[in-house]
Amino acid sequence: MIRSAESALRRGLLRRSYTSESPLPERKVAILGAAGGIGQPLSLLMKLNPLVSNLALYDIAGTPGVAADVSHINTRAEVAGYMTEDQIGQALEGSDVVIIPAGVPRKPGMTRDDLFNINAGIVKNLCVAIAKYCPDAVVNMISNPVNSTVPIASEVFKKAGTYDEKKLFGVTTLDVVRARTFFAGKSKSPGLNLVFTDVNVPVVGGHAGITILPLFSQATPASNVALSADEITALTKRTQDGGTEVVEAKAGKGSATLSMAYAGALFADACLKGLNGVPDVVECTFVQSSITELPFFASKVRLGKNGVEEVLGLGTLSDFEKEGLEKLKPELKSSIEKGIKFAKEN
Ligand code: NAD
Ligand code: LMR
Repeated sequence: MIRSAESALRRGLLRRSYTSESPLPERKVAILGAAGGIGQPLSLLMKLNPLVSNLALYDIAGTPGVAADVSHINTRAEVAGYMTEDQIGQALEGSDVVIIPAGVPRKPGMTRDDLFNINAGIVKNLCVAIAKYCPDAVVNMISNPVNSTVPIASEVFKKAGTYDEKKLFGVTTLDVVRARTFFAGKSKSPGLNLVFTDVNVPVVGGHAGITILPLFSQATPASNVALSADEITALTKRTQDGGTEVVEAKAGKGSATLSMAYAGALFADACLKGLNGVPDVVECTFVQSSITELPFFASKVRLGKNGVEEVLGLGTLSDFEKEGLEKLKPELKSSIEKGIKFAKEN
């Protein structure tokens, strides 16, 4: 069972395979918030990833159990659990990639921004520790509101003198995963069988409500069922509201965890491949950017040995997408500014 899960992951995550002549390099991944709803399945998926040699699981509670459990899986990664602040240095030291799903999730009726007051402080403190113990690591920020937590991290790293804009990523992969799923589902019709795992849809902007802008006009393979304007509008709205759909279905028991762990594992795998020198690794992610007037923006990014190799442009947009782009800018701008202000004042 585990063996077939691992081989499925190898097929899915390790699409560009390595030859036996090039042994896999040692790579340490740390997960901060590893005992949470996302943290636990993400720990499992990273333990199954053959690119990981060391897996450090850190949380303020519960990590010994998660680490003991995951460590029994017979894959390459050596697992260690760390709990309480005095152990965070050990968890982080030597890390190549740090994934941060620490923080509170939404309940029905809340926006992601409603999480700001609690999560901003958590993220800030974790980033102070990253700057101290593994300043060269690639950081994958999952904690919400991503539109603000990434700018917070950038300011913390700037203050510490360790900021490298090529190594800070807001994880927006779940938006891409959702857009792929909804597009492939919608495009299904007799005679056309889009394979869900072959579909790709770029999603740009940010990670909250209308700041999430899926570019269905650039979906591949192009659907040969002409989607109507109403269908594109509905697909866009469903992608933008995907998180809320899960929050409401969970009815007070949190937000997306399993699909997020999958998306987080895909993105971390892409970062590891980039670090290992695999060519042409391209993912959508929220990064420091100059492709619009906003200082941070999600778009396709080519990943490489130093993190971001190239922030790719938006390509040709439909009129509907152009309109969506202009509409999202004020909200995204104010979320970015809120994060920067918090980090400067705290
Ligand atoms: P959760 O409450 O189940 O888990 C959070 C974990 O973080 C807990 O185990 C908690 O102990 C830990 N934690 C809290 N403070 C910490 C600290 N200072 N150091 C280390 N660990 C700490 O929540 P969850 O469902 O796993 O969600 C976590 C975050 O991820 C939320 O902010 C949620 O909104 C966000 N999220 C983002 C995306 C995305 O697409 N980027 C998707 C889903 C959820
Ligand atoms: C998501 O998109 O599922 C996450 O950002 C969690 C949330 O609060 O919606």
